[in-house]
Amino acid sequence: MAYARQAPFVSAPICYCPGAPMRRRDKSTAMSNTVLTGMQWGDEGKGKIIDLLSPAFDAVVRYQGGNNAGHTVKFSDRHFALHLIPSGILTPGMHCVLGNGMVIPPDAFFEELESLRASGVETEERLWISDRAHVLLPIYAEVDKARELQLGTGRIGTTARGIGPAYEAKIARQGVRMCDLYSERLEGLLMNVSSRLRPELGSLGRGSDVASLLIRCRDWAERLKPFVADTGRLINEWIDAGSSVLFEGAQGVLLDVDHGTYPFVTSSNATAGGASTGSGVAPTRIDGSIGVLKAYTTRVGSGPFPTELAEGEPDGDFLRRRGNEFGTTTGRPRRCGWLDLVIARYARRVNDTEIFALTKIDVLDRFESIKVCVAYRIDGEEVRDFPSDLGRLERAEPVYEELPGWNQETAGTTRFEDLPENARDYVAYLEDDLEASAAVISTGPRREETIVLDQARLEQLTRGRLQTPPP
Ligand code: IMP
Repeated sequence: MAYARQAPFVSAPICYCPGAPMRRRDKSTAMSNTVLTGMQWGDEGKGKIIDLLSPAFDAVVRYQGGNNAGHTVKFSDRHFALHLIPSGILTPGMHCVLGNGMVIPPDAFFEELESLRASGVETEERLWISDRAHVLLPIYAEVDKARELQLGTGRIGTTARGIGPAYEAKIARQGVRMCDLYSERLEGLLMNVSSRLRPELGSLGRGSDVASLLIRCRDWAERLKPFVADTGRLINEWIDAGSSVLFEGAQGVLLDVDHGTYPFVTSSNATAGGASTGSGVAPTRIDGSIGVLKAYTTRVGSGPFPTELAEGEPDGDFLRRRGNEFGTTTGRPRRCGWLDLVIARYARRVNDTEIFALTKIDVLDRFESIKVCVAYRIDGEEVRDFPSDLGRLERAEPVYEELPGWNQETAGTTRFEDLPENARDYVAYLEDDLEASAAVISTGPRREETIVLDQARLEQLTRGRLQTPPP
């Protein structure tokens, strides 16, 4: 369905926006603002779904995390791996924001920008970084690596990008924000960071030299100038003017620092609630939520994983190979296991995802039967709610239901009625259990390999502006 893009965008002043009267939006005609989140441990295939949905929105906003994320988008003969910049940047004319909830390493940002430009993706005047986002300093990555080494077998298995130390500095009120790059306080802030972390790094610490860090910061400040803005104000003005915004979650519910498998989590709020604090848009202005659920489960890094198929188990190895389950950011092989509905139900509740996109269903094509975990048995008791206590989760044994497989190719299918009956039943089974609608089914990595199953719900979510991919 074609739509006419409106152009209600205001230009983004560098760093500080002078006060301007806000227009109230008329809620009856307003576009929908939607948050998209991962329903497992990340790597659900969010990049592809954002790429599919973003033409129906005017702006895409990332609200948490940093370059620990990895979103892959494939279409025609092109392949993009994005870590910081929202996947919406691949939609021509789309405005993209790196929100205040993010931690951003400037060099990684410039690198991504360069590779986008080299691929002919124009980013001029449509890519913004919040002046309140935190700068991820190189020293944080050094600390991250040193701590993981020190933890040995008890390590979190982080992406080693410095995400934890960057958020730690933020919460300790000792971080350096984008706006600080332009402030006379910068040197003092850097001295503070360095004196706090230098003892921990000892002779290993290379990024703790304040003089050279200051030179790098000055250079970043200059190069970041065209992008840095009061994005909280910008996004609210866009919404006032009737634009619709897609909030792009990174990672997934179980990596959320509050709701995930703590302490084996990332350090930000990857759930729908994070969209508000991480962007400066009130929860009352966000109208809907869509989840992305992979047809089986994967996890990178350490921590409990009840349905895991241990390395060497043929079904797990098969999922890893066929699903190409190797990290976009680190290249690490992902741990693989059967779909866990205890987790999916939990994600459904925390994020209020009445609508979900089911990804990688084609990876299940070769199984005679497919297991789905419907509950856990913990200390002899059957449990359907996701436990908070790590010990209980480690003792959880999955209670499986076994569904008939379809043992037939579905890769590339674009119409629901062309799926084998057992695959259609599998989708219906998930919808029933989750009391949610599978609006999209992804049957392959390419943009074109998609079934739009519930067009009506998607149109509701996007106020009728969804462009379905060409068949
Ligand atoms: P950190 O975010 O680098 O601190 O890593 C904390 C945990 O989150 C580790 O288990 C990582 O493997 C995991 N993690 C972080 N980002 C992603 C992601 O985008 N996909 C999957 N796992 C992630």
